[in-house]
Amino acid sequence: MDKFIVQGGTPLNGTVAISGAKNATLELMPAALLAPGAYQFTNTPNIRDVWTMSRLMASMGVHCELNDNILHINTANITSQEAPYSYVKQMRASIHVLGPLVARYGYAKVSLPGGCAWGPRPVDFHLKGLEKLGAEITLDGGYIIARAKRLRGANITFDIASVGATFNLMAAATLAHGRTVINNAAIEPEVTAAGRLLQKMGAQIEGLGTPTITIEGCDNLKPANIETIPDRVETGTLLVAVAMTGGKATLTNTNPYHLAVVLEKLEEAGCELDIRADEITLTAPDQLKPVDVVTAVYPGFPTDMQAQWMSLMTCAAGTSTVQETIYKDRFSHVPELARLGCDIHVSENVATIRGGKGLTGATVMSTDLRASVAMVLAGLVAQGQTEVLRIYHLDRGYESLELKLEALGASIRRVKTDQL
Ligand code: EPZ
Repeated sequence: MDKFIVQGGTPLNGTVAISGAKNATLELMPAALLAPGAYQFTNTPNIRDVWTMSRLMASMGVHCELNDNILHINTANITSQEAPYSYVKQMRASIHVLGPLVARYGYAKVSLPGGCAWGPRPVDFHLKGLEKLGAEITLDGGYIIARAKRLRGANITFDIASVGATFNLMAAATLAHGRTVINNAAIEPEVTAAGRLLQKMGAQIEGLGTPTITIEGCDNLKPANIETIPDRVETGTLLVAVAMTGGKATLTNTNPYHLAVVLEKLEEAGCELDIRADEITLTAPDQLKPVDVVTAVYPGFPTDMQAQWMSLMTCAAGTSTVQETIYKDRFSHVPELARLGCDIHVSENVATIRGGKGLTGATVMSTDLRASVAMVLAGLVAQGQTEVLRIYHLDRGYESLELKLEALGASIRRVKTDQL
């Protein structure tokens, strides 16, 4: 196991490049199951979730190789349409293979994903949507078994604009017979990126990036290559790190348009932003202002930035609130932040942060991907040393985060530990 040892108090300055988007890659990869052949995805992040998806797809006979952030995939010799619990329990996004497999092979056996650190994460939208497309869905021994002679187009409306369900059903519909319309579709950039790959593969898709996506099914698709979009959550996370530590830094190879609301909130908090086509320069204020946020589906404030924002607000002079509307209980980072001296009170889905009180280093534990990075952010400003345990959570979604922070002047190092 690894941990990070962080010495707080150093302003972050300099320039660092953003990696490709984890949540785009976790859709691009399963999309390759729809058509046999060789694919190349550039700007792929070298992170644990990509390794997990690679191992899952390799267990199906897919060749996956990541070299210098170029992911080579070959789906010419798929031998299995099953996603075992051993993989799915590690990563909920394994469910993204369900739609492509049942669309191409008429069969898929995929483990139900478990819950996660912040409560149940159902897949009912995925299953109901596939049934509307004509799949027969049965649940047996913790597995989803989907069968269909050939999927047929349908009208599908989501109660909640689900990212994963939008991908799964958009992908499945590309090989269905007839037209599928997905209403209340997710418009996150990662879904749009996956849709762009499907279009390059020959899929007839209209309405990407809007709540209504229309797919005219076809008989087969062909492999394609694509460049992975930048990771908007890594971008927001590093901007928060610079803002909290009182520095000035430029993030390159990013897309400011994908996190417009986060940039607006950072400006409200007193940060000065210089925004170019693919880079953002943030200059931190002498004193951050408290700013309330409410998470929402895109283009609202991303739930995946909620924990990081909470860390930022512990440095603001005053009281702010963070309201989580996407998940029932995504506040597992609060008790750990409290150990660093953060004054945060949670009532139902609203956290109230009383900032400006100064933090003191301590040993804290990661509970999930974004909670773990919130600890690192707090450690960057806490007085003294902070040890963040269970860094494997963080490694799921951040490529060499400690090296990027070190390049900006942070005192952070990764060490092996027997501490659990
Ligand atoms: C994606 O998860 C992201 N993961 C999550 O990022 C992100 O938090 C989430 O979208 C919301 O933006 C990936 O893309 C791999 P949803 P997903 O389906 O697709 C409920 C990170 O940190 N729901 O949009 O699983 C669900 O419980 C991760 O990078 C149902 O009720 O999210 C949640 O309350 C964490 N039934 C809401 O919808 C369903 O069938 C949104 O979930 C599906 C979802």
